Amino acid sequence: MDANDMGSDLKDILVSEDEITTRLDELAKAIDAYYAGEEVLMVGVLRGSAMVMADLARKLHTPITMDWMAVSSYGSGTKSSGVVRILKDLTEDIMGRNVLIVEDIIDSGLTLSWLVQNLTSREPKDIKIMSMFRKPEAVRSMEVPVDWVGFDLPDEFVIGYGLDYAERYRNLPFVGTLAPHVYEK
Ligand code: XMP
Ligand code: MG
Repeated sequence: MDANDMGSDLKDILVSEDEITTRLDELAKAIDAYYAGEEVLMVGVLRGSAMVMADLARKLHTPITMDWMAVSSYGSGTKSSGVVRILKDLTEDIMGRNVLIVEDIIDSGLTLSWLVQNLTSREPKDIKIMSMFRKPEAVRSMEVPVDWVGFDLPDEFVIGYGLDYAERYRNLPFVGTLAPHVYEK
């Protein structure tokens, strides 16, 4: 899927495909440097992190394995409440292992904060967090210290590169905003 398929539904491109690739190269270097000589279990948070998991994993030289978790945050409308339910738990036992949580986007940070607490109770050796995108609220509240961030975004709803509106647009190679008329459909 690309911008042409979007027609007038696309408002702006905020982060281009090239910018994503370049930034992932930089992040992979930093992450490889951190794990030098160690193995890491990448934990992708479904469904948004599918793209960044696939792209980051292919850029890493560190030996990795992958596992997935799906959580749903009870909330009113689009804001998360921090009350989280596990829809799909990890298959792997993480005790004594290096865990890298891979997130698509952090907004309030409440979902991630809960996830870190939950995974910490399973006694991994180490937990680190990588998020491809971050909203201003996450920076303000400092709910969770994120170890690696791809891009800081303005406080707008974004789609693409794994992020959806009503489950659509996840397969856009860039991140952008939607025209207002899309929300009125
Ligand atoms: P919190 O507030 O707990 O929420 O950090 C993080 C989750 O909220 C979703 N989210 C978005 N999804 N476009 C999306 O498609 C956005 O702009 C957006 N902002 C937040 C996302 O599921 C993320 O994991
Ligand atoms: Mg998500």
